[in-house]
Amino acid sequence: MVKILVILFFLGILFILWQKWELTKFEVTDYAVMSEKIKKAHRAIVITDLHGFTYGKKNQHLLEKIKDCNPEMILIPGDLIVSKYSDTFGTALELLKELVKIAPVYYSFGNHETRLRSPEKMNHCAFQNYVEEAEKIGVKILNNKSFLVSELENIRIIGLELPVGYYEKGRIVPMKSDVLEDLLPMPEKNDYVILLAHNPAYAEYYAKWGADVTFCGHNHGGLIRIPGIGSLLSPQLTLFPKYDAGKFQKEGKDIIVSRGIGTHTFHIRIFNRAELLNIQFLPK
Ligand SMILES: [Fe+2]
Repeated sequence: MVKILVILFFLGILFILWQKWELTKFEVTDYAVMSEKIKKAHRAIVITDLHGFTYGKKNQHLLEKIKDCNPEMILIPGDLIVSKYSDTFGTALELLKELVKIAPVYYSFGNHETRLRSPEKMNHCAFQNYVEEAEKIGVKILNNKSFLVSELENIRIIGLELPVGYYEKGRIVPMKSDVLEDLLPMPEKNDYVILLAHNPAYAEYYAKWGADVTFCGHNHGGLIRIPGIGSLLSPQLTLFPKYDAGKFQKEGKDIIVSRGIGTHTFHIRIFNRAELLNIQFLPK
């Protein structure tokens, strides 16, 4: 019995050390998306779910990797912060200040940001300051707004901000019909539409609405990934989320779900390394 306890103790220590080490690492995952609407090749970096994480002092390791990828745009589909920890706002802002020097930054909110729109929430004022500062340094915040990237021809970026009700714990709230039509501006027919949509649970709705490619986060890869099966648990505490991580196709459109670059609350990543997405947009 004592032997078993000693073995379990050492296995526990090894697990903690492995996880501490694992959480200092991230990788760059390359994806290519193709469309007849794309006239020439372009590059973008997608960062999701930073949650106040840092890789090196002032995120210098992250910034170096992003610079190496030489992106023409930086896309952020939400959750740069943790809503209850206002110190994460400073970390996010520090990163944004450096990102705008690399390429134009397009940001739409995830549940952690949207939650703080409510004036009765703790950190609401600090969050308002954070948003003002981000806009002041040139970050384009696209919550249910559209931006035509004229220097990249007909590439239109649209950010979706879903109401907080769509992040209920324990279940996926059915999406009301026409919610995307009501929230989002309609793009032009010939635009190549990039949708930034934090919550991947509604991937097929985004494709049906007409997004040529949708970038999502939110699931953090599901904390624990079982090789060959996928993720165990979403942050909304739903089991085996369908759109957990990777590239999916619906209605002939692409949906790419990031495992995220940070974690919060449960700092665990098993077979689920943090990632930046390096995207190539190619003509078909
Ligand atoms: Fe999230």
